[in-house]
Amino acid sequence: MPSVQDQIRSRRTFAIISHPDAGKTTLTEKLLLYTGSIQTAGSVKGKASSRHAVSDWMDIEKERGISVTSSVLQFTYDGYCVNILDTPGHQDFSEDTYRTLMAADAAVMVIDGAKGVEAQTKKLFKVCTLRHIPIFTFVNKLDHDARDPFDLVEEIETVLGIDTYPMNWPIGSGRNFKGVFDRASRRVLAFEGDGRANATKRVAEVEAELGDPALDELIGAENHQALADDIELLDGASEEFDLEAVQTGRLTPVFFGSALTNFGVEPFLKDFLRLAPSPLPYTDSLTGEKVDPASEDFSGFVFKIQANMDKNHRDRIAFLRICSGRFERGMDARHVQSGRKLKLATGTAMMADDRATVDEAFAGDVVGLFDPGIFSIGDTVCAGRREVRYPSIPTFAPEHFARVTQVDTLKRKQFVKGVEELAQEGAIQIFREVGGGMESVIVGVVGVLQLDVLERRLKSEYHVTVRRQPLPYTEIRWIQNGPDEVDVAQLNLSRDTCKVEDMRGGKLLLFTNEWNVNWALERNPGLRLSEFGNIA
Ligand code: G4P
Repeated sequence: MPSVQDQIRSRRTFAIISHPDAGKTTLTEKLLLYTGSIQTAGSVKGKASSRHAVSDWMDIEKERGISVTSSVLQFTYDGYCVNILDTPGHQDFSEDTYRTLMAADAAVMVIDGAKGVEAQTKKLFKVCTLRHIPIFTFVNKLDHDARDPFDLVEEIETVLGIDTYPMNWPIGSGRNFKGVFDRASRRVLAFEGDGRANATKRVAEVEAELGDPALDELIGAENHQALADDIELLDGASEEFDLEAVQTGRLTPVFFGSALTNFGVEPFLKDFLRLAPSPLPYTDSLTGEKVDPASEDFSGFVFKIQANMDKNHRDRIAFLRICSGRFERGMDARHVQSGRKLKLATGTAMMADDRATVDEAFAGDVVGLFDPGIFSIGDTVCAGRREVRYPSIPTFAPEHFARVTQVDTLKRKQFVKGVEELAQEGAIQIFREVGGGMESVIVGVVGVLQLDVLERRLKSEYHVTVRRQPLPYTEIRWIQNGPDEVDVAQLNLSRDTCKVEDMRGGKLLLFTNEWNVNWALERNPGLRLSEFGNIA
């Protein structure tokens, strides 16, 4: 039996980030396929097929071909236990991705070789740099015409502000894609593509050394010469490989390949597993000290809550990233925020093919705990002698608002339950108009698409039909003054400013523009406003 330390050392927990369509889902699928975790391509996300999707739970995801919820896929390979935290690619769900990145020890950034660094890549990259986690780059779609690799690498450096180290180098692209040169082994892996774009089998990789006349035959004399020139330039110009710089997020190893044709996926995975860190220590905010992942005491934090994943069992699952020690089903633990003792009665893991109950898990893993309604995002759960508390996860300020009103007044209870439960997941924030009734709420979201999801889920999971009216607010401010300091009803505000309350009774104001915020501050001396409140 491997020791707890060995178990933790073998873990690699990472998220894949990309701009939509760069190939995140395809790469995930090929990793699962390659490691034998799934048997058929298309089962991760079948946009075009009717196969049930592994990482897509919701109808809306299938319809729009986007991944809304973050799921966790675990597999073992070559002595490693790998956790892939799936993240939604669509920008309207970037808050979910942001929280997921809080639970990852490394990120893989997929870039479309024809498009380079795109808007969403930049945004997600920024989040990764906040935590200084290592970032590995996979430049995808080399089987299609791609941009010059020197250009791509330079763009990553200048736009994202991170040093690069190309681990391999492409030979041509598109119809002329001949393979990659591996810089460590100094060998060429030839691409045996034959136009079967949807090849799902493992592509055989032929090896040959640079300068070998046989290479002329394999990739063509012209390509051979061009490659030799590129490599000379690269070896002369680029920095030495620096593992410390990789592990602190200052240098990204860059791999070129083609996920769809399965080319370069295996060498990428091997290098990634070798270079990516085992579970990183998280900081205890009570003491400011780092908690050793291999310490005996179990601890973790909730980074995601998802209600009704299984419609037949109206469950709520809190996804917990284990930060230290060992989890055992049925163990006694403490919910730090409420001080309550609880039995971690049921844990589930998202296995590649199904949800399975986990009996045991270790630092680096994610377990889905059945939530009796006590968890909020960012909460800490721990066991053992020492109490730890992980830092809370900040929320994005909502940028879009709508009044959501129930259509059938007889369903008030379901409506309230529905919006409150969905708000606890953290994807939406709900507010009540001061003096307003129970039949409507104001909903704030970071991305508009989240309003569609809300409407759809209220209907399918709570059987409540709602009407939605967009509201013109763009700025949200919590009132910092206590009730004895400021009487909200008496505030002197512009006519289009709205007074609301959050779920915890906090008072806040919604403004249509920044100018009105200043207007309120000027007209109400002593009023203190903040852009941040607490998450639901
Ligand atoms: P995402 O999760 O990052 O949004 O991207 P996804 O993997 O869904 O890939 C987006 C599109 O790019 C898909 O095509 C996919 O087949 C294609 N693709 C991914 N990797 C490669 C690659 O290495 N080479 C080429 N040529 N194409 C690639 P689609 O037509 O939009 O969807 P589908 O009908 O093929 O699923």
